[in-house]
Amino acid sequence: QNSYDFFGVHQAGITTPVQDHLHFASFDMMPRTDRDDLISLLQDWSYAASRLTQGLEVSASGAVGGSPEAPPDDTGEALGLPSAGLTITIGFGPSLFENEDGDRYGIAAQRPAGLERLPAFLGDDLDPEMSHGDLCVQACADDPQVAVHAIRNLSRIAFGRARLRWSQLGFGKTSRTTAAQATPRNLFGFKDGTANILADDTAALDEHVWVSAADDPGWLAGGSYLVARRIAMLIETWDRVRLSEQATIIGRDKGEGAPLSGGDEFTEPDFHGGAIDAHSHVRLAHPTQNDGVRILRRGYNYVDGNNTLGRLDAGLFFLSYQRDPAQFITLQRRLATDRMNEYIRHVGSGIWAVPAGAKPGSYVGAELF
Ligand code: HEM
Repeated sequence: QNSYDFFGVHQAGITTPVQDHLHFASFDMMPRTDRDDLISLLQDWSYAASRLTQGLEVSASGAVGGSPEAPPDDTGEALGLPSAGLTITIGFGPSLFENEDGDRYGIAAQRPAGLERLPAFLGDDLDPEMSHGDLCVQACADDPQVAVHAIRNLSRIAFGRARLRWSQLGFGKTSRTTAAQATPRNLFGFKDGTANILADDTAALDEHVWVSAADDPGWLAGGSYLVARRIAMLIETWDRVRLSEQATIIGRDKGEGAPLSGGDEFTEPDFHGGAIDAHSHVRLAHPTQNDGVRILRRGYNYVDGNNTLGRLDAGLFFLSYQRDPAQFITLQRRLATDRMNEYIRHVGSGIWAVPAGAKPGSYVGAELF
C-alpha cells in the first residue's frame, strides 16, 4: 500500500498516481469569521491531513484514546484501515478573497487576477447548490471509506469556522497520471486519460500545470488552479448510439482507444486525412487545435442514484489542474461545437487556487498571510 506525504514542494493529489476513489468537498467560511479563524482552520486541517495521509487518526487521542466523557476526536470508521494512498489537496476559491461582505480576511489584494468565477459557457445548466465555494478539499484514496473519513473529519474540525457547501463522491478514476497506470474508462465506455500530462513529464508540468515564481501572484508559486465541473452524462441516450457513431463523436475507437486515423492508443492523431471528424471531442480538445494548450485531467465517474424515469443520475466529475484558468476556458469554449454535447450537461462548476505544498510543520497557504 502506498502512502503519500502531505508536506512537499507541491501539494499531493495532483501528479500523484490517480487513486480509485474521490470525495470532493466545497466549503464556505461561516459568517463573522476573521483572519485568525481562517489561519487556524488551515493550520488544523494541515495537521490533521498530515496524520490522515499516513493512516493515523486525526489526533493522538484519536477515536478511543480520549476521555470517555467527551466525544472522540476521530470518528473512528477508518480504524484498522491503511492510508490507502490518501491525498488531501486544499484550494482557495475566488469568494474567499472577497465576497458581498467585503475583504473579510485582508487578502483581497492578493487575489490572483485569473481567479474569478468561470464565465458562462454555451450549454451550461449549473446548479448553484453544487457550484463554487470559499475552500475546497479533494480527498483521493484507493478505499472509499478512507476518503470519506477524511472529508468527514475535516468538516468536523472546521466546525464554527467553515461548513460544507456541497460534496461529490467519485469512483473509477477517469484519468491517469503515470505511464504505469493502464488507461481507465469513463461511463461512455471509452478510455480516458490517454493524452493526459503525466507525472514524469516535468517540462510539460512546468509549462502547463505549476504556477511559476515569475507568474503573478508570487504566493501561488509551485501551486496550480483547479477547475471542477460536474458533467451529467445522458447515458441511456448514449447507449442507443451506434458503435461507429460513438467512435466518431470521440475521435477514437472504443476497444483500444486508438485515434481513428490509425495506429495504437498512443499514436498521435492525424487530423488531416479526414478520418477524424472535425467536431469530434479529441480533435477539438487537442493541443494543435488550441495553440498548444494542455491541462492535467484527474476526474472521476459518479452515479448518484436515479431519477423517477428510471434513468441513472450519472456522469463525470471533471477535475483539471492548470497553470492559468485561461487554459480551461480556451478548451471549454473550443468544445462549444463538440458532437459529444448532445450527450452531456455541465451542471456544477468551481475554481480554486491550489497553493504549493506546505513545508513540514507549516500549513497550506502560509505564504498568503
Ligand atoms: C480527451 C472524454 C470532458 C478535455 C478525451 C478522451 C475522452 C474524453 C474519451 C480521449 C482519451 C484521452 O486522451 O484522454 C470526455 C468526457 C467528457 C469530457 C466523457 C465529459 C463528460 C472534457 C472537458 C474538457 C476535456 C470538459 C476540457 C474543457 C480533454 C482533453 C483531451 C480529452 C484536453 C485530450 C485531447 C488530446 O490531447 O488528444 N476526453 N471528456 N474533456 N479531453 Fe475530454
